[in-house]
Amino acid sequence: MREADLDAVLEITNEAFRGLVEKNTGRRPKGPLFASSLGRYRRDVDPHGCHVAVSGDEVVGANFSVLRGTLGWFGPLAVRPDAQGLGIAQRLVTECLRAAEQRGVRLMGLETLANSPQHVHLYLKLGFRPSWTGISFRGEVRDGQMPRGVDVDGAIPKLDYLYPGYDATNDARATRAAKVGVTLTDGDGLAICHYVNTLWTDTSIVYMPLIVAPDRKTFDSLLRAVEAVAREQGKGHVVTQVPGASWTTQEALLEHGYESGGAALRMKRGDNLDYDAGSIYYCDDWH
Ligand SMILES: CC(C)(COP(=O)(O)OP(=O)(O)OC[C@H]1O[C@@H](n2cnc3c(N)ncnc32)[C@H](O)[C@@H]1OP(=O)(O)O)[C@@H](O)C(=O)NCCC(=O)NCCS
Repeated sequence: MREADLDAVLEITNEAFRGLVEKNTGRRPKGPLFASSLGRYRRDVDPHGCHVAVSGDEVVGANFSVLRGTLGWFGPLAVRPDAQGLGIAQRLVTECLRAAEQRGVRLMGLETLANSPQHVHLYLKLGFRPSWTGISFRGEVRDGQMPRGVDVDGAIPKLDYLYPGYDATNDARATRAAKVGVTLTDGDGLAICHYVNTLWTDTSIVYMPLIVAPDRKTFDSLLRAVEAVAREQGKGHVVTQVPGASWTTQEALLEHGYESGGAALRMKRGDNLDYDAGSIYYCDDWH
């Protein structure tokens, strides 16, 4: 995916997902669904993980992926409605997997619709197993100060304790370079906090694409720090996505007054697939 492809990619992604919403709800949303900065931001995070399918001179499909060292995920994946059903999505995902494997990925994941036979078929065919979920959580920003001991935009800790070789350095670098948010660190814990939404068009929230914390105390402190940033930025809510297997994280968020939203199907392919079922506190958005 080149810089020059980004307008077409955004248009195709919006159009394909408007079609998906219409298929599921009977209502076609108007206007953009995705943030206009999505493509530029994702190319900043991982340029080698962004792909387009081209027919003649025209972009007909696009896929974004993010590689965090040995663990990666992809999406949003979209094919122009008039080019669907021709195997383009399969070629985009196959190339994404090939490129990721060449760079040493051990596990790839995605989030999709559990009730769509088309989606489940597509990813099963490409070797992904459908045994996990991702649960959205949303919390109101509370009063309080930035907790002591939390560094803003400090050094990024090693996260091998979550998954051997897990590395969020690219997300952290792109977050700072694009000025869309901050990184917060407390000991071995890391939170990435976006006050400019790089995915959806909702501008009222702070979006937390990642928290990894080795214990509850660190998790609580990072969550408070994210809320302090949100308050400073005039945002009312914090939104994140939690692996369904990470029950410790969900319990902690519920105790903090966060509310759960819907569950999406998570599918994975590779080694150590249940890495997220342990005692580590972990929010990770695979959109
Ligand atoms: C989902 C999407 C990316 C698929 O793109 P595509 O290029 O049409 O997909 P492909 O042609 O590569 O493959 C589709 C597969 O699903 C199968 N399929 C289609 N409808 C199906 C159904 N109702 N039940 C089961 N399988 C179905 C096709 O037969 C094909 O499999 P096959 O090659 O084994 O026959 C595209 O429809 C899209 O952009 N949708 C809107 C956005 C979206 O849903 N993105 C993904 C979110 S996770």
